[in-house]
Amino acid sequence: MPTDTNPLADRTRRATSFNTASANYAKYRPSYPPALYEALAEALGRPLAGARVADIGAGTGIATAQLRQAEAHVVAVEPGAGMAAELHRALPDTPLLQGDGNALPFADAAFDLVTFAQSFHWTDPDRSLPEAYRVLRPGGTLARWWNISDHSYEWVADQADRLKAHFGPEGAAHGAHIPGRPETAATPGTGDRFKATPRPGGPDPEPVADARVTHRLPWSRRLTVDDHLANLASHSLFLVADEELAQDFLTGERAELLRLFPDGHVDERYVVDLVLTSRPSHLPSP
Ligand SMILES: C[S@@+](CC[C@H](N)C(=O)[O-])C[C@H]1O[C@@H](n2cnc3c(N)ncnc32)[C@H](O)[C@@H]1O
Repeated sequence: MPTDTNPLADRTRRATSFNTASANYAKYRPSYPPALYEALAEALGRPLAGARVADIGAGTGIATAQLRQAEAHVVAVEPGAGMAAELHRALPDTPLLQGDGNALPFADAAFDLVTFAQSFHWTDPDRSLPEAYRVLRPGGTLARWWNISDHSYEWVADQADRLKAHFGPEGAAHGAHIPGRPETAATPGTGDRFKATPRPGGPDPEPVADARVTHRLPWSRRLTVDDHLANLASHSLFLVADEELAQDFLTGERAELLRLFPDGHVDERYVVDLVLTSRPSHLPSP
């Protein structure tokens, strides 16, 4: 579909849309559970404290802040000026480079760990993957992860259906986490067949069908219906959609959620899909 007729299908526009709402992004987006950072340390074979980490597509610094809290030495890379400004405001002491995951501004073998928290799907994997491995030391770890709405909860699945009905295929349900889905059975390994097939998806594009998810980490957070809707509204689908169309959805969804949850609170249910790989050993040592 031509991108000029359907803003929802325009990936470049969606990839840069976050900059228009970076304060809301920082305020309402979920973070990641402690189990994620435990898995990173395990993969590294050492504590995160003191590890050299490049956090790519760092956005407002949600993962960066958690990595910092674990005392990793983190450098953040973010292409978007609005998101980078928010990160700098929140984490003024964190080294931050305005850069692109497809061409990392680092020397070879500079890091123990490279992270993409909900950002790898915005890159071109044919470029970003070799770049990530280039800047990793031999044996270093590449971590890509996504907070996916857990569609095994009925209200989450129903909301996804309402998104699809309202926005059409670009608002399609995605990331449904039904136990037994193929990724669950995938065998973790070090070779990398991960292919980030670009897909517009719903509020956040689904990772990829052929990604070998090495860890699936369920978690939840409780928040008000209004904060939940503000989180929803910070997704690229809403940021590029016609304003009236987006607002109509949020108004209807508010009424529906307050009917379902009369105390005005929802438990957002997530599964972190984590893809851990090692720098392939056949790459030449720097
Ligand atoms: C969904 S946000 C994730 C932000 C942050 N990592 C987090 O966990 O909240 C995606 C981020 O990827 C960034 N991004 C878009 N295209 C990118 C690219 N080519 N390279 C690196 N980051 C990119 C966006 O600017 C945005 O900040």
